[in-house]
Formats: sequence, structure tokens, C-alpha cells
Amino acid sequence: MKRLFKIFGITLGIIAILIGAFAAYIGFKGVPQYQFDIPPAMAALQAPLDSAHVARGAKIATLLCNECHRGADGKLIGKEMLDLPADLKPGHSLNITQDKEHGIGEWTDGELYYFLRTGIRKDGSWAPPFMPKFPLMADDDLLSVIAWLRSDDPALAPDPRELPPNQWNFLVKFLSNVAIFPPALPAQPITVPDTTDKVAFGRYVADGLCACYACHSADFTKQDPVHPEKSLGFYGGGNPMLNYEGELVPSANITMDKSTGIGNWNYEQFYEAVKNGKNPKGGPLYYPMFPHSTLSDAEVSAMWAYLQTVPPVVNEVKRYTGKVE
Ligand code: HEC
Ligand code: HEC
Repeated sequence: MKRLFKIFGITLGIIAILIGAFAAYIGFKGVPQYQFDIPPAMAALQAPLDSAHVARGAKIATLLCNECHRGADGKLIGKEMLDLPADLKPGHSLNITQDKEHGIGEWTDGELYYFLRTGIRKDGSWAPPFMPKFPLMADDDLLSVIAWLRSDDPALAPDPRELPPNQWNFLVKFLSNVAIFPPALPAQPITVPDTTDKVAFGRYVADGLCACYACHSADFTKQDPVHPEKSLGFYGGGNPMLNYEGELVPSANITMDKSTGIGNWNYEQFYEAVKNGKNPKGGPLYYPMFPHSTLSDAEVSAMWAYLQTVPPVVNEVKRYTGKVE
């Protein structure tokens, strides 16, 4: 018996040492580096700078970029992400103005394109989870975002203010080593589906462009950005998100389940919620939901058609009820 305890004790000791060594290794290694493996055709890409592409890119930026990168005075100089979950803090976004030294003025269109798809920079460093990657965005939409980054939008005019490089905490390093990786480049060109195919177009707007599923599934760390439908609790909500005050605002179940989702809503209620941020029960929908006011009516109605095809998830979400004044 004594011998058995001894073996047990030694085994535990070895496991503890291995865990300690692994933790030290992750802490030292940090967020992994990756090969900047850009295909030559992508490296040579040039965003078309015509006004239609710039306008499309500016619209996409209101849905995807500005909220995270906008400093206090409206310039896109980066900011502290106060709404990160406490165990992932601290973290901040970076300067994406046209400043050559402190922003992205020296990046080529190809480098931006590859980065927005994968999160990998020219020096091999990788932007961890909080900078979203866009593996499903249509090629032309991605080029529009780059055209906008090059435009004369005053929010992007060169600005030298810069936050220091991020010092990610252990959990972020750990997740970046074992759970969350750069998405693969798309194998085929991606085009925006024809608007007459409402479900396909709606799927593109919801999953590919706006990534509504990312907030509206169960957990940021259990998602598949290349196959969103494989994400845990796809559109069933409950993702424990925070507002800027650090209060919990879980995402809503927006599947068509009649008791716990939005299966009893009519289209007008959905439209008002998505476009104008109105809760049909009265009052606003709270941040981090935000009014997607630049979406066209066709885009909102196509998303509604698409959501009818998403399998209903039974998940009662305990909702945020507003600040106590
Ligand atoms: C949820 C917040 C968030 C959103 C949304 C977001 N970003 Fe970022 N972005 C970040 C963070 C955080 C970093 C810094 C990552 C790091 O330190 O490695 C970053 C880094 C970047 C960089 C690299 C800058 C550098 O100097 O290395 C670029 C370029 C960029 N973002 C562009 C965009 C564009 C364009 C969009 C919209 C299509 C966007 N981001 C949307 C949070 C965000
Ligand atoms: C940044 C995260 C985030 C993104 C992106 C996001 N949502 Fe939300 N959404 C939320 C949160 C959190 C709530 C809950 C807000 C509340 O309780 O007031 C919510 C609420 C909603 C509601 C209200 C549901 C109800 O039962 O009251 C609808 C509808 C909705 N979102 C649709 C969408 C659609 C469609 C998209 C994409 C175009 C989207 N959301 C993108 C976080 C997000």
C-alpha cells in the first residue's frame, strides 16, 4: 500500500512539473509567430480606388472597424478595449491611420489583404483573437475596405499618436497556442451572392460580412470562422459579453425558437432591432449590440430570410436589464 502511495505521489509530482514547464514555455513563447505565406497574386493586389469601392468600404467600416479602432476624438488611432472580459485584459487596438510610421501608411494593399484574412503581419507576428479575421468576406468587399483605408476620410488622415505594443496576458497566450489559430486562406474566389437568392445573400451578410454569429453564438473560443455553422450554439446567444462599464450583457438568442429565440417576432421588429437598435419590448438594445444603420433594407430582409433556415436553438438567455440609475 505504502508503495502504491509513493508511486501515486511521484506521478502527481511529475505531472505538476510538466504542467509548470508547459506554462513557463507558453509564457515565454507568447502569441505564436506564423509564416507570412502570401501568394504572389495576392502580394500584387491593388485596391480599386474609385468612389463606389471607397463608399462600400466606408460602409463596411461602420459595421466592422470603427467601433474598435476609434479614439476619443474620432480618429482611428486605436484604444483600450475596456469591454474585454476581465480574464483577457488588458488589450488595445492599434493606429490604422495613414501615418507611415505609427499607422499603416507603409503597408501594401496585399499585406493589408492578407492580414485582414489571416491576422498575420509581414514580420510573422499574429494579431490574437480580438482583432477579427475575415475569411468569408467577398474579395471585392475586402478590396473595398482597403480602398477606404486609402481614402481621404478625415478619421484616417495620418496621426502620430500610438499605443505601445500589446502585452497579452497568460490566458491570451495560452488560447493562441492551443485553441485559436489563423484561418486558412479561402481556396476559391469569394463573390457576393446574387441578391435575388435571398437566403444565400442573407447568409453572406450575416455570417460572411457582419459576422453576427460571432457575438450571437455561445462562446468566442468555440467558434469556427471558416465554417460558422459549426460554432457552439450557433445563433443561440448567451455569449457572455461586457459593456464598457464591465457589466455582463449576454448576446440574445436570435434563432427562430419560439420560446427562447425570436421565432414569434415579425419582420418589422427584427428590422427595428437590427437597423435602429430598438428592443420590441421597449427601450434600446444595449451595447455591444449596436444599430447597424448603414445596412440596406435588402440586406436586413435577406438576413431575416436566412435566419429562418438556421436550426432553432433552445437557450433561455438571462438578459441585461439596464443600468440601475
Ligand atoms: C473587436 C475589435 C476590433 C475590430 C472590430 C477590428 N479591429 Fe483591427 N485590431 C484590433 C486589435 C485589438 C488590434 C491589435 C492586435 C495586436 O496587437 O496584435 C488590431 C489591429 C489591426 C491592424 C494592424 C495594425 C498594426 O499596426 O499592426 C489593422 C490593419 C487593423 N486592425 C484593421 C482593422 C480593420 C480594417 C477592421 C475592420 C474591417 C478592424 N481592424 C476591425 C481590434 C479590432
Ligand atoms: C458585437 C457583438 C454583436 C454583434 C456583432 C451583433 N450583435 Fe446582435 N446583439 C448583441 C447583444 C449583446 C445583444 C443583446 C442586447 C440586449 O440584451 O439589450 C444583441 C441583440 C440582438 C437582437 C435582439 C434580440 C432580442 O431578443 O431582443 C437582434 C435581433 C440582433 N442582436 C441581431 C443581430 C444581427 C442580425 C447582427 C448582425 C448584423 C448582430 N445582431 C450583430 C451583440 C451583437
